[in-house]
Amino acid sequence: MNRRTLLLSGTALALGGAALLGRRMMMVHGTAGPSMDHAAGVAPTAGAGERILSLPEGAPLHVLTKIANTASKPGLVEARLTAAPAIIEIALGKPTNVLAFNGSLPGPLIEATEGDRVRIEFVNNIPGQISTIHWHGMPVPPGQDGNPMDPVESGSSRVYEFTLPANSAATYWYHPHPHGLTHEQVYRGLAGAFIVRPKTDPLPADLAETVLVISDLRLAADGSMPDSNYLDTMNGREGDHLLVNGQKNPVLTINPGSSRRFRLVNATNARFLRLAFDGHAMTQIGTDGGLLASPLPGLTELLLGPAERAEIVVDFQAKPGTVSLVTVPYERGWMGPGKPVRAIAPLLTVALVGKVRAPVSLPARLRDIAALGAATANKRVVFSETMSMGAGGMKMGYLIDGKKFDMSRVDLSSRAGEVELWEVVNTADMDHPFHMHGAQFQIVERERDGVKTPAAFLSWKDTVNVARGETVRFKVQHVFSGLRMYHCHILEHESQGMMAVLKVV
Ligand code: C2O
Ligand code: CU
Ligand code: CU
Repeated sequence: MNRRTLLLSGTALALGGAALLGRRMMMVHGTAGPSMDHAAGVAPTAGAGERILSLPEGAPLHVLTKIANTASKPGLVEARLTAAPAIIEIALGKPTNVLAFNGSLPGPLIEATEGDRVRIEFVNNIPGQISTIHWHGMPVPPGQDGNPMDPVESGSSRVYEFTLPANSAATYWYHPHPHGLTHEQVYRGLAGAFIVRPKTDPLPADLAETVLVISDLRLAADGSMPDSNYLDTMNGREGDHLLVNGQKNPVLTINPGSSRRFRLVNATNARFLRLAFDGHAMTQIGTDGGLLASPLPGLTELLLGPAERAEIVVDFQAKPGTVSLVTVPYERGWMGPGKPVRAIAPLLTVALVGKVRAPVSLPARLRDIAALGAATANKRVVFSETMSMGAGGMKMGYLIDGKKFDMSRVDLSSRAGEVELWEVVNTADMDHPFHMHGAQFQIVERERDGVKTPAAFLSWKDTVNVARGETVRFKVQHVFSGLRMYHCHILEHESQGMMAVLKVV
């Protein structure tokens, strides 16, 4: 079967008819048919109602399993993370083969305190695949940061070791970063949260905290996890189910009237979560790189792109009842047919039961965030998508500065300690979340259609969505010398080459 037939039959299977083909793909098919890296042997995707398994909902929310710290003295976090196949039962009676860290989905929660020395042994028991662990957003030296240049072979292990500096308290996450395989290892289940705590937390001690790791899952009717198809390759894989701490729409039971701090982690490959609590405003207290200078009350929604994190506080109503944390559809741009039709979907149900409590009041100041000074160097990065004719037909390219990732090439250089102004331009038809390793940056402004919008508040970020047609400017100052990656955090785009190398000297 030639590639074109394969793609067309795949599409017909997926959509129950060619009538749903988008204009763009019609155009592509009108030439020679796209040749995507993962086009062969694909399983049909979304659309057929019976294919979507229903998952049990409404179970009590799992508190994330904490990793076992085997260190014998304070100030040291010692643990082992083993990535290996595991079988879990998400759909009742239909076990799913996943990849898991220490057998748990999501991976165990790692907790440490500023100043701690962290030593984590990583054992790669993924059959036939290299892997790494990348400490997303963390101030870790390049050689300890799980770069694609430092793969751990299947069946071997290594130790990652670093010290958490002052002012690094934040909600981070960890995931594999092997060349070309990151997207697959993450959607199969390899991701977990890493919380760095300050020596003293400025939030009131009686404000309870809940960590929510949000992931995305696609299951076939038999409970297996289908391989990705060419639409996933183009748009990033979206599943049929959003999971919170590995569960579909679990229930968190708390007292009416109480306040709750949530640490939110978007650990999906490609989902934009536009989060809202019905009838309840959120107060944002933190971003990727930790607390804001002051609480930001009154938010009705919060957009959390792939890999972004946020900390919020919600004061719940004083009367018993249920309140849902939902995600509202967000238009991120889509290529080809099969654009998911999304409704408002519940992620978590908060059940307000028992004695009425009084809300907790937040301090006016959370911490100091010093604005980075005047930039003495400039960088410009352009995200683009291309369609080109190759031997096998049409080929999509996801590029940075017109180039596909090459780990032996240095794309940009920076000097450690220098404040730089970066400009990330998205000329493509889809949103692309920009992420840089090893440093937190401060967004200065966004620009769209010639209109500049300055950042409303100062915060630390390591991932920022650059919407289609938008330019984002931020300041950054690297600390460690060595090689860093910067890339789109739609993981399929990263795997296909929307990534580049920064050399910090
Ligand atoms: Cu979250 Cu380069 O990664
Ligand atoms: Cu990262
Ligand atoms: Cu992208």
